[in-house]
Amino acid sequence: MLFEPVILAFDCNWCSYAAADLAGIARLQYPPNLRIIRVMCSGMVHPNLVVEAFQKGADGVMVMGCHPGECHYVDGNEKARRRMAVVVEMLDAMGLEPERFRLVWCSSSEAERFAASVREMTETVRALGPSPYRVQKWSGL
Ligand code: FES
Repeated sequence: MLFEPVILAFDCNWCSYAAADLAGIARLQYPPNLRIIRVMCSGMVHPNLVVEAFQKGADGVMVMGCHPGECHYVDGNEKARRRMAVVVEMLDAMGLEPERFRLVWCSSSEAERFAASVREMTETVRALGPSPYRVQKWSGL
C-alpha cells in the first residue's frame, strides 16, 4: 500500500490561504494530504509550533507566507525566514530530515504555485517515508 503522508501547513491568511481558496475555485489538482492551519501572518508561527506538529505525528510541515516585501505586517515574513533557520536545526536535533520542512512564499493570486508546492512537498515526504514520530505514535511507544 502506498504511504500517504500527513502534511501540516501554516498558511498566511492574506496570501497562501487565499491561494488555496483560489486553487479550489479553479479546480486545480493537488494532493489531499494537506491539513491547513490559517494564521494571520507567517511571522506568527513560532518554531515550537512546528516542532509540536512533528511530535504529534505530522510527516511534513509547511509554512507559507507572503512574498518578501509584501507582508501585511511589514516584516513578519522576514521574521519567519529567520525563525525557520532555527527550525532546521531543531529538526536535526530530533533526527528528522530537513526536507520534511519547507518555507514557501506564495501570493493570493498564485493558485498554481500553491498547488505545485503541495504536490512537490507531498512527493518529497512520500519518498522519505513516515516520520519516526508518527510510527512511534501508532505503535504506542
Ligand atoms: Fe502574509 Fe505576513 S501577512 S506573511
